Amino acid sequence: MDLTRRPRRLRQDRVRGLVSETSLDPSDLIAPIFVDATTDERLPIESMPGHERVPIEQSVARVEEVLETGVEAVMLFGIPESKDAEGTRAWAEDGVIQEATRQITAETDAYVITDVCLCEYTDHGHCGPLEEELRSEGHGERCAHGHGATLTVDNDATLESLDRIAVSHAAAGADMIAPSGMMDGMVAAIREGLDREGYEHVPIMSYAAKYESAFYGPFRDAADGAPSFGNRRHYQMDPANAREAMREVRLDAEQGADVLMVKPALPYLDIVSNIRREFDHPVAAYNVSGEYAMLHAAAEKGWLDLEEVALESLLSIKRAGADLILTYFAEDVAEGLSRNR
Ligand code: PBG
Repeated sequence: MDLTRRPRRLRQDRVRGLVSETSLDPSDLIAPIFVDATTDERLPIESMPGHERVPIEQSVARVEEVLETGVEAVMLFGIPESKDAEGTRAWAEDGVIQEATRQITAETDAYVITDVCLCEYTDHGHCGPLEEELRSEGHGERCAHGHGATLTVDNDATLESLDRIAVSHAAAGADMIAPSGMMDGMVAAIREGLDREGYEHVPIMSYAAKYESAFYGPFRDAADGAPSFGNRRHYQMDPANAREAMREVRLDAEQGADVLMVKPALPYLDIVSNIRREFDHPVAAYNVSGEYAMLHAAAEKGWLDLEEVALESLLSIKRAGADLILTYFAEDVAEGLSRNR
């Protein structure tokens, strides 16, 4: 046999690093944090081992733990002290995220990104105020309370709330705003609001292609944001669609999104790589709660090596084209990376 081409030559230990195409660094990672205004002690989140809801007074301490691992950015989610139909606590000056952001930015160097959405703040758990569907056989959801109307999120009313929320986060010191509600026009509305109030330097990371995914299950327990009736199908994307993602992303880019996000990550790597090929923007991927929980569950059974599969997952997300990754593994993987250096 004449074997002049032998790919194995470059797989020898001392050369592997030189020819590796992708690398992972703690500075690529964003750690999500849950701040809870209803508790004064840290509450473990059962379906997300290692993660907790922390009271506002503990948010600085929590962020310091993240920074110690080498991760420099956090994404804040809030659980408010009360909810109503409009989600008014989402833009309150003394709201949970506003308070936590003020404390974290005053006392740490963390880069603070805030999730801008209404689902944790509305009593019905949808991502904006509700209205009756105009067409009776539309794609809205039947209200479980039985009055027979078909309800859906009022897109344009929600835009006004998103403007207020984003401005209130920026006023509290947020470094970056991340709208996740999948409303049409949300990036334009927020960009306009931020610029109007003098926050033109604050970038927007849009959850541009966010799918209606069952992988959000553990998060909805963690952030207490499950819809009380129906699902999010009438605003989040259909998992069957890839071309539609490009239309969504293009709209967000045109409206001024600075970073384009895909969510979830692992089941949607084709979307990440399509966006990488067509856009020059930084691409982010959200390795969501269900992706985290399933690896933990398998590891707990002794079926997978957690550290190895977490690292391989994040490396694959980068290989597909993501520049930054939001992940509940951020701290563990960052610690692993510095240990192996
Ligand atoms: C809020 C929001 C959700 C997630 C991030 N922001 C929940 C949802 O859309 O139901 C999910 C994150 C995760 O699962 O880790 N709109």
